[in-house]
Amino acid sequence: MIEGDAEADADLEAAVRTLRAGGLVAIPTETVYGLAADASNPAAVRRLYEVKGRPPGHPVIVHIAGIEALSRWASRVSEDARRLAETFWPGPLTLILPRTLAVVDEITGGRDTVGLRVPNHPLALALLRAFDGGLAAPSANRFGRVSPTTAADVRADLGSDVDLVLDGGPCGVGVESTIVDCSEEGVPPVILRPGGVTAEQIEAALGHPVRRTASGPSRAPGMLPAHYAPRAQVIVIEEIDAAVAAADSHARSGKRTGLLTPQSVTAPPGVTALTAGDTSESYASALYDRLREADRLGLDLLVVVPPPAVGVGVAVRDRLARATTGSVR
Ligand code: TXA
Ligand code: MG
Repeated sequence: MIEGDAEADADLEAAVRTLRAGGLVAIPTETVYGLAADASNPAAVRRLYEVKGRPPGHPVIVHIAGIEALSRWASRVSEDARRLAETFWPGPLTLILPRTLAVVDEITGGRDTVGLRVPNHPLALALLRAFDGGLAAPSANRFGRVSPTTAADVRADLGSDVDLVLDGGPCGVGVESTIVDCSEEGVPPVILRPGGVTAEQIEAALGHPVRRTASGPSRAPGMLPAHYAPRAQVIVIEEIDAAVAAADSHARSGKRTGLLTPQSVTAPPGVTALTAGDTSESYASALYDRLREADRLGLDLLVVVPPPAVGVGVAVRDRLARATTGSVR
């Protein structure tokens, strides 16, 4: 496999060169693909916003190689934050911390805090070590679209606007990292966005309760309801029988209708059946691909039966609620 290694090394070298020159590189992580730029280069970060079509003022996460890089970006790391970093990094957890002067305004949208995470993917970690700096990386999709979980998704969405795509295979977790705000002194951390690390795991690591926001957009800007939505209209229905009946009636009214369920079901005539997975983990890992599939199939409407609200199922339900731009019924 010497040839494969040489190829991987050449890809990494090209990625480092591109990033140092202010270019954009799509990188695999365990959650979703990120669109990376040198976090210390304001012009590169501005181009990131342009390519994503993201309005300025939405902060991006800085990806770092390890806990030892924290002090460059965070001016104060509370005991809770350190415990969380030690327990869950590398992994699907982003910590919001007070920023140092090394963090440029382009990263934080002028806030006094910064989001930091060590991704758990061998290629991303190898790149971060070789690059020897921080990588600003939002999900590698156009603003408001479904996050990419394969290199092909990135290419389909961003085309030639991305200078290089590192292909690390499909993402394992499949939904974005859990965001925990540890920036305020003397108050318990707040979960701003549910993700691959669950509230229960966080509380077990800390030995005390944390707060959970109703995933409002105020504290984690950029988490608007319309995010995470496919073109097809999404309707979430808890009960399988009710979901089948709803899909049936929509199909009869002439809408191209899909039905996304944890386990495979017999769909009514004219309804396209899609399956996500019968555990929270498999559902999360398949979710964005199935939402993209609905668009590839040209569906008008997707009726979705969500996973139960346990483990990463909480994050799946959060994203589905956003995809409906309404509430989970
Ligand atoms: O799993 C993930 O987190 C992926 C991969 C690529 O690491 N990244 C990701 O980035 O989901 P993005 O930009 O799509 O979402 C990051 C969210 C923003 O919407 C924002 O709400 C929050 O992180 N965020 C970042 N910095 C923040 C800050 N200083 N204060 C509050 N929220 C912040
Ligand atoms: Mg995103």
